[in-house]
Formats: sequence, C-alpha cells, structure tokens
Amino acid sequence: MWAHIVCWLFILNVVAGFPSRHPRQLELDTYNNAYNPGPDSVLLEDVYYYDVGPTINEPQIEIVRLPPLVDNFHAPAASLEEEEEELSVGPLPTSHTSGGSGVLMGPDGSGVPDRSTCMLCTCLGGSVYCDDLKLESVPPLHKDTTHFYARFNKISKISKSDFAHLNKLKRIDLTHNKILRIDEDAFIGLPALEELVLQENQVSQLPALPASMTLIDASHNKLGGKGIHREAFKDMHGLLYLYLTDNNIGHIPLPLPESLRSLHLQNNNIQMLHEDTFCNLKDINYIRKALEDIRLDGNPINLSKTPQAYTCLPRVPIGGLF
Ligand SMILES: *[C@@H]1O[C@H](CO)[C@@H](O)[C@H](O)[C@H]1NC(C)=O
Repeated sequence: MWAHIVCWLFILNVVAGFPSRHPRQLELDTYNNAYNPGPDSVLLEDVYYYDVGPTINEPQIEIVRLPPLVDNFHAPAASLEEEEEELSVGPLPTSHTSGGSGVLMGPDGSGVPDRSTCMLCTCLGGSVYCDDLKLESVPPLHKDTTHFYARFNKISKISKSDFAHLNKLKRIDLTHNKILRIDEDAFIGLPALEELVLQENQVSQLPALPASMTLIDASHNKLGGKGIHREAFKDMHGLLYLYLTDNNIGHIPLPLPESLRSLHLQNNNIQMLHEDTFCNLKDINYIRKALEDIRLDGNPINLSKTPQAYTCLPRVPIGGLF
C-alpha cells in the first residue's frame, strides 16, 4: 500500500540523487532485500529518512505525516498498533508547520482555543504529548484529555487553573522541568487522576492528591522534612507505587495504604524504623503481603537494629544491614 509507494518513491529518489555510485540495476535489485528486513519496518524507516534527508519531496511527506495533524479528539479511534507506530516516530515540530491551518483545525473547522495545543504538541486520542518543547507553562488542554506528557520542558509553576475541569485526566507526566511551586489545589479536583510523575523538579511541597491515585513519583525533588502532608497517602486505597527517591526526607510517610506494592525511598535521610512502621504490633498474624519492594539504600539507617519491623513483610527491605 502506502508503504510500497513511499518505498518506491524513495528508491527513485536515491537513484536520481546518486546515479554515479552504483549501476542502477544493482541498486534497484538489492535495495529491498538489503535495507528492508520486513514490510513493517519499511514505513518507519522511510518516514525517518524523508524527514531528515537532504532530498525531501514535500508532497510525499504530507502523505506520511497527515495522521498527527488531524483533530484526534474527534477522529475515529486508531488501533493500538497505529498509535504505537506514530509514537515511535515521535513528535516532530517541523511537521506541524508544513500543513495548512485548515487541516489543523479539524474537519468541522471549529477553532476552539484549546485545540491550538495540538498544533504545538502531538495529540493522539486523549493523549497530549508536549515533550521537549521549551514550554514555560502548561498549555491549554482540551477537556477530553486523558494523558498529558510535558517532559523535558521549562515549566516552573503549576497553577490551579492548569488542570481545572479535566475530568478525564488519568496521567500527568512533568518529568524534568523546573517546577518550584504547585498550587495546593492544582490536582485535588481531578476525579480520574491515577498517575502523577514529577520526577526531577525542585518541588518542596507535595500538594494534596485525590484518593484515586495508583502511582506517585516525586523522586529527585526537594521535599525535605516538611514537603509531605501528614497522612498524605492514608486514603489512597488503590495506591500501588510510591517513589520518593532522593528528596532528603527524614521519615517514612505513614500510614501506608494496604494496597502499596513499591516504596522507593533510597538516598534520603531516614535514620530510624519502628516496629509498627510496616507491621502491626497488636496483631502478630497480620501480613502486609502487597508490599514486596521497599528501597531504603542510601539512608543513614541500620536495618539490623529493628529485625521485628519486617516480620509481616514478604521481603526484607533493601538497605544497609551493617
Ligand atoms: C547495626 O546494628 C547492629 C544490631 O544492633 C549492631 O550490631 C551493629 O554494630 C550496627 N552497625 C552500625 C554501623 O551501627
């Protein structure tokens, strides 16, 4: 189909561009076998080649690059395979300027302001990818957004209005920005939020989060001794992953929900565990069977001092057993 057409156009381009290197016949005969191991790889290789190659042919790029330009919020759902194919190509800012603005506005021609984000970022179904775009703030998001990615930008503050009314938003990934401050009510009103990734920022206060959370990753921040609210995770009955690596935290944030599978606290300032940190002193039969991955390495703690603290766990925490 398109793959073959694009492939053949590419071959013609190569032959036309470098006619003196090899006899034409040989090039045409061997190209398919030597450079294209399977039909699946043809399209991606050629897309890549066309985007970076010196002999770019505009109309052919348009054919390959059209899918990311349409209004994905109301386009028929793409199959998972198609989505993944697009993802591995990645957002290429140049492609967004090559099309006319009529295409970007979508078939219905409505110029809803939030849609402008999809000219800058890549929108696929409910997912909005704004990675590595030098953004200094969260762009306006469509109310149907389910996943928002803005990794490797320069965002310095998260305001209450940034994610207001995004009732379908499940995942926010703000890895590696410059976030210093997050409004206390920036996330609490998001009824569907499950995953928040704030890795590699400078956050000193983790704001209140909804009880629907399953993954919280605030590793490599500046939470210190006061950056986590008292009983912050107590009511998150579906919380599975809590990553707080490298934050200068002095205490394990208790109580930990029963559902928790992974607790990563390496490279902090935790000095002491208590016998009831994980287990229940009043019930010797109590087993905390979900919590199988505790990391305490890189803390000034001697795990040998509190052997009673691990009796209810499926595995002893990883850390200093001096
Ligand atoms: C760690 O605790 C054990 C048990 O109390 C003790 O024998 C050992 O000397 C301690 N190690 C250090 C470095 O404090």
